[in-house]
Parts: sequence; structure tokens; C-alpha cells
Amino acid sequence: MPNNEIIFEGKNLVKEFGHGKTLCTALKGMNFQIKEGEIVTLVGGSACGKSVLAKHMLGFLQPTKGEFLYRGKKITNQRDHWQDVQPIFQDPFSAFNQFYTIREQLEDSFNVFYKKPSKAEVKKRVDDALLAVNVQPSELEGKFPFELSGGQMQRMLLARIFALKPKVLIADEATSMVDACVRANILDYLMKLKEELNMTIIFITHDIGLAYYVSDRIFIVDDGQIVEQGTPDEVALTPKTAVTRHLLDDIPDIHKPWIVRNGHAQ
Ligand SMILES: Nc1ncnc2c1ncn2[C@@H]1O[C@H](COP(=O)(O)OP(=O)(O)O)[C@@H](O)[C@H]1O
Ligand SMILES: [Mg+2]
Repeated sequence: MPNNEIIFEGKNLVKEFGHGKTLCTALKGMNFQIKEGEIVTLVGGSACGKSVLAKHMLGFLQPTKGEFLYRGKKITNQRDHWQDVQPIFQDPFSAFNQFYTIREQLEDSFNVFYKKPSKAEVKKRVDDALLAVNVQPSELEGKFPFELSGGQMQRMLLARIFALKPKVLIADEATSMVDACVRANILDYLMKLKEELNMTIIFITHDIGLAYYVSDRIFIVDDGQIVEQGTPDEVALTPKTAVTRHLLDDIPDIHKPWIVRNGHAQ
């Protein structure tokens, strides 16, 4: 359950790239707060600024103007930040090196920590994480990334998160490359992480239907701004902006759970 600690806060957050004729303002003054234990989904079309915001959350980018805070402070040291905040990215193949076994890479991912657990502890945590995503550790012995399917690799990214147990997870389009069945599985695993660890999860998608299922709150992002924030029901039943209505209209009726749940169309 969300408690009251504010994990991320944006105060008139602006991010610009380039200058003069090449100036691109990716974030145009975002204001928001995200609390510990919340699942917040950023929903919006392509190039609206979702990944740029995610990169601030990971400490990869600093704001041009305004403020971006983690637990009330600016992120000044990336390595410190990564003790707590970890990503799952869209493309699992680019996240793993093809020349090392998956097992080695899962174990090496503990190198991010200042206090690395013992070798035996690392091995046990990787085994447990593989079991958590329904993979028998023995099946993976000696396997390289190119020997696995896209869906299996996506699971390996999740296993990495189960092993590291970060306080905050940033999942940027983590389910967009996989089929519906694998996607449902991944979402189940994310829910399990939230339940077991009270993990704060920032989920990023262009699919507002998916957002409705998984989120405590939804932020609608458009053209570098958060144009609407609310609970899934607030956003789905009483959309306040044309952008939100447009995103809702794009979902086939059969996939609109709020119609069934509330017994009427919006
Ligand atoms: N490093 C960069 N340099 C220049 N422009 C960038 C950079 N990163 C993102 N942008 C621009 O910022 C805008 C938002 O990008 P992004 O956040 O990646 O969109 P999305 O919502 O699809 O994730 C886009 O117009 C993109 O071209
Ligand atoms: Mg993106």
C-alpha cells in the first residue's frame, strides 16, 4: 500500500535538447508527486516525453529547468541512485551481452551494489529469481542470450529485478515486444513484486487499457506535459481532456473493463 513518503517529485520540470534551430523541448513543465508503494503508469502516444521522464527517474538525465527530486533530494550520484532504482527496458536483447551466459550476467548485475552479497547468496538469489519467473535454474545452465526467445529473454529481465529487489522499478514499454500471453504473465509478476516488496513501480505504455488494470494512478502524457492525473476509474470514467478521450476511443469496447464493471458506457 502506498505510504506517505514521496519518492519522485517534479516541480515545473523542463528538459530541452539541442539549441537554436535544433531545440527540442521534450518536457514542458511537469508537476507531479509519486508516493512509495504506488504503481503509476505513464500513458501517451509516441515522442510525448515518456522515456525522457523515465530517464530522469533513473538518474540518466538532469532537468534543464525546474526540479526533479528523489525522496526530496536532487539526484547527484548515479551509482547511489541505482542502489534503489532499477529499470526494465523494452528490448531484452540489447540489455544482455551476447557473449556471456545469462547466468553470469544475472550474477554480475549485483555489482551495482556497494555491498555485494556473498557468492553463495548471489547464487541463491538468482536461483530464487528464476523460479519466481517459472524457469528451472538447471534449464538455463550454460545458455547464451541468442539461445532464448524474445519472451524468455523478457523473463530474464524480470528475473534480474526479482534478484536485485530494487525499491523502485521503472518499466519502460517492457511489455510492448511480447505477445498477449507473455504480457499477462509479466504483469502478474509485476503485481507479485509490488505485493511482496511494496516496490514502487513506474510503468510506461501507450495502452491505456493495460494501464487501467495495473495502476494505482495514471498520468496521461501529451506533448511534454502531464495533461491529466487520476485513479484508473477517474481517468476512464470522467476523462478531462481530448487526449484522454482519444486514447480511450482507440480501445475496442470488448477490452474496456470499466464498462462491464460499472454497468454502463462512459
Ligand atoms: N537525447 C535526445 N536528444 C534529442 N532529442 C531527444 C533525445 N531524447 C529524446 N528526444 C526527443 O524528445 C521527445 C520525447 O522523446 P521520448 O521521451 O523518447 O518519447 P516517448 O514518449 O515515445 O518515450 C522526442 O521528440 C524525442 O525525439
Ligand atoms: Mg519511449
